[in-house]
Amino acid sequence: MTFGVYVHWPFCAAKCPYCDFNSHVRTAIDEDGWVDGILSELQWVAENQAGRPVVESIFFGGGTPSLMQGRSVGRVLQKIAALWPMANDVEITLEANPASADAARFADYRAAGVNRVSLGAQALNDPDLKALGRLHDVKEAKAALALAMGLFARVSLDLIYARPNQSDTQWRSELKEALSFGTDHLSLYQLTIEPETPYALLHRNGQLRIPDDDLAAGLYETTQELTEQAGLPAYEISNHARPGQESHHNLIYWRYGDYAGVGPGAHGRLDLGGRRTATAAIKLPERWRDTVTKAGHGFGELISVSSDEAAREHLLMNLRLAEGLDLAAYEQRWGEGLDARKIAALSDAGFVALEDGRLRATAKGRLLLNRVIEELV
Ligand SMILES: C[S@@+](CC[C@H](N)C(=O)[O-])C[C@H]1O[C@@H](n2cnc3c(N)ncnc32)[C@H](O)[C@@H]1O
Ligand code: SF4
Repeated sequence: MTFGVYVHWPFCAAKCPYCDFNSHVRTAIDEDGWVDGILSELQWVAENQAGRPVVESIFFGGGTPSLMQGRSVGRVLQKIAALWPMANDVEITLEANPASADAARFADYRAAGVNRVSLGAQALNDPDLKALGRLHDVKEAKAALALAMGLFARVSLDLIYARPNQSDTQWRSELKEALSFGTDHLSLYQLTIEPETPYALLHRNGQLRIPDDDLAAGLYETTQELTEQAGLPAYEISNHARPGQESHHNLIYWRYGDYAGVGPGAHGRLDLGGRRTATAAIKLPERWRDTVTKAGHGFGELISVSSDEAAREHLLMNLRLAEGLDLAAYEQRWGEGLDARKIAALSDAGFVALEDGRLRATAKGRLLLNRVIEELV
């Protein structure tokens, strides 16, 4: 079973109005103390997990992990290396915000072992960056990208599309520019209006005009067309890579491997005491830290996942991927395969395609993935 470690750093310099990630703004951060909490959780996972799987990927996400000092990243990596065997080609990614991309700190990350950076550019024009509440402009985003590409062999860029007032023409030229930078991986997210964010309020009050469904579908198609032309096709709904440059970490999630998720609000899927367990850490950083200090971990939820539920999760995750689901492997893992008649009916309706023993969601099916899963299980 593939295994990865996700480390959540829950702090940001400012909260972007569209974002509902578990991210918090704090004036002073006792960084060593927060890292101590993360180390405790890692220790707890290693002690309670069945076996000692090889770590194939580590991902520092957030929040804004590029606010961490290199020393803190190093402490976490040393702890992971002390607890688990590490794959020779382990992928170690850190998410960076251009507003906190500092040359000396990036060099420290590299010295600590980070070998991949995922940079949140979000947009490539200043008015839109401002509307997104970003603390950086395009010049700074490009400087951060050049810095990252100079230091790390693997760099990914995040952009958000279907933004307020965005046209197909604008997105085409922006995406072409993003592709011209030459990164081998792009995460291209369609803007979602998340409940209880400032954007949700503006949207409700009619102060935020986002593309309607038709335009958004057109933008999605433009995204597929341009990325395919450039040799970075989608390998997942929002993730594009030159073949071979897919994020190992993303693939662990979507191929339904095991991953430990540590830090406030992190999620994991692990074999604990012989049972597949969904872990969810307490979201509020201060409450998480108190709990870690008392109990050694801050997992507010440790829920064992029934075999039926796990099979369903496996299906949902695999069908997000362009490579789809290996039907034989699925049947072997869960002891029961999918119903051939149901597959045939969904295939006739154009939601899935079956080829060489792999089941894939079509573009139409991907838009209604939950419904497709309902039909299949
Ligand atoms: C944790 S953030 C990345 C790192 C860093 N915090 C930053 O913003 O630069 C993960 C990514 O999720 C995407 N994202 C966040 N909220 C979103 C939303 N409401 N709709 C679409 N994409 C979103 C952004 O592209 C962002 O880069
Ligand atoms: S998008 Fe990134 S920087 Fe902005 S609030 Fe969310 S996690 Fe923080």
